[in-house]
Amino acid sequence: MKKLFALALTLVMALSLTACGDKQEPTTTDPADSDEGGFKTAVEGTLSMATEATFPPYEFYDGDKLVGIDVDVAGAIAEKLGLKLDVVDIAFDSIVPGVQTGKYDIGMAGMTVNKERLQQVNFTDSYAKGVQVVIVKEGSTITSVDDLFAEGANHTVGTQTYTTGFLYASDDIQAKGLGTVKSFAKTTDAVEALKNDQVDCVILDNEPAKALVAANEGLTILDSSYADEDYAIAISKENDALKEAVNTALQELINDGTVQKIVDSYIK
Ligand code: ARG
Repeated sequence: MKKLFALALTLVMALSLTACGDKQEPTTTDPADSDEGGFKTAVEGTLSMATEATFPPYEFYDGDKLVGIDVDVAGAIAEKLGLKLDVVDIAFDSIVPGVQTGKYDIGMAGMTVNKERLQQVNFTDSYAKGVQVVIVKEGSTITSVDDLFAEGANHTVGTQTYTTGFLYASDDIQAKGLGTVKSFAKTTDAVEALKNDQVDCVILDNEPAKALVAANEGLTILDSSYADEDYAIAISKENDALKEAVNTALQELINDGTVQKIVDSYIK
């Protein structure tokens, strides 16, 4: 038995020596295998990013161009990895499943790291903070976040489908009999519903809330905030090599000030 083990060991050593000598040559012919980082992407040479683009300043349309902090940060990451960035705008609740199954390489959508999502995908280090806030119509009877949880409260709360705002409101308001949660595919639909009195308030992340309030008359953000969160990039649990490569690139871009510069170009 011992002899067999020794033989196997010699074989392994011999093989790994050969592997070392071969370093310059890619050892695989898989088209989606990267030569350098050892990671795979869904399409060779491309980093595909799934997002939902009604979320300014992280992702939104400037004319027909999809722009934003997430788009620029992902572009800088792709450049570091020698890949071309391909941004795909899909429903917010399709992003995590799409990344989980490997259809998209990364999910980047001002996405909060939470327990539910961590069961489906991995996340990189955080690159931004988010705060959940409440938008109301000017002159609303809701004047603080606590009004939503007050005894006898009965509000209709607008949220974007599958967002943390939706999850919180479902737990803290609907499940407790303090109101009803309505969810919308787009943040802009939730804001329209508020303007049309179909909902009494909208729970949303602070920066998109600011941008949407600025773009729509008669709305205001309550002073008190609902929750603090961390945004990170979702990557398949099956693709640790890509997660490592993206994390390294992200850390370099945070350390050399690139991420801050991108943020400052969108948030004045
Ligand atoms: N941060 C919130 C969440 O992760 C909302 C994100 C919505 N993002 C978007 N691109 N629509 O649930």
